[in-house]
Amino acid sequence: MGKIIAVHSYKGGTGKTLLSVNLAATFVKLGKKVCLFDLDFRAPSLSILLKMENLEYWLNDYLNGTCEIDKVLVDLSDKIHNGGKLFVGFANPTTEAIREMSAKDRKWEMRALGRLLSLRTSLLNGKGFDYLIFDTSPGLQYSSINAIVGADIVLVATTFDRSDVDGTRRMLQELYDLFEKKTEIVLNKVLHDVSSKSGKEIMQTKIGDLYHTPPLGIIPCFCDILRGEGNIIFPQEKPEHPFTKILEEIANKIDKLP
Ligand SMILES: Nc1ncnc2c1ncn2[C@@H]1O[C@H](COP(=O)(O)OP(=O)(O)OP(=O)(O)O)[C@@H](O)[C@H]1O
Ligand SMILES: [Mg+2]
Repeated sequence: MGKIIAVHSYKGGTGKTLLSVNLAATFVKLGKKVCLFDLDFRAPSLSILLKMENLEYWLNDYLNGTCEIDKVLVDLSDKIHNGGKLFVGFANPTTEAIREMSAKDRKWEMRALGRLLSLRTSLLNGKGFDYLIFDTSPGLQYSSINAIVGADIVLVATTFDRSDVDGTRRMLQELYDLFEKKTEIVLNKVLHDVSSKSGKEIMQTKIGDLYHTPPLGIIPCFCDILRGEGNIIFPQEKPEHPFTKILEEIANKIDKLP
């Protein structure tokens, strides 16, 4: 049975999109059948990062109930060689669509949750996907709550920024636990040296003390990531990069989760 992962955070810019894309690519390299969803309707990114414009159907249409999911999904398996399968569901990045999505009411969001929940039947059970990955908006937006409710695992991307730490801790206690979600922390943009075994252990203890749970992954700040301007699919383009190795560790740990 496949799993649904929501990548979420308290603050913006913690690396959710970077993590979602590269984790999806890592699973594909491991031979998995993966579907990546841009559920950040506030600031859609995947269509720009993966250069998809003028699509006929978007996730917006699926959630609106105006088309089925197979009309939305784009097969990008060719982008990743020697692997499994990668499909992507894009959010509409036009200003008009962003404004429209931000004006949805509670009733619409409830129906959208139903559509999101039915992906488990249609994609995991029906089409044999191993992983659905939801890239979300930061904070407590309705669409992010829906993504969390619909997921099996919440991957929380956080940094050492003090307000981020504080907000993340509050969400751990008051949000994810409320929905009884399996929550895993990924500490991103870490400036301390974690390349040595002892450096990594010190960091793991520090993060464990902060969040009362050991981190699933620790990702240093890499200039190569910034240099790529969001374009790099690391597992594909830089197979030997330390970021790629960390992603492989994270993917293997997720694969082993019950
Ligand atoms: N480990 C890292 N090292 C260097 N730069 C990073 C790292 N992680 C993320 N970044 C950079 O930080 C910026 C924000 O990353 P990203 O867009 O993935 O965050 P996000 O959480 O999706 O943001 P938003 O909340 O706006 O959706 C990007 O420019 C990205 O390249
Ligand atoms: Mg993002």
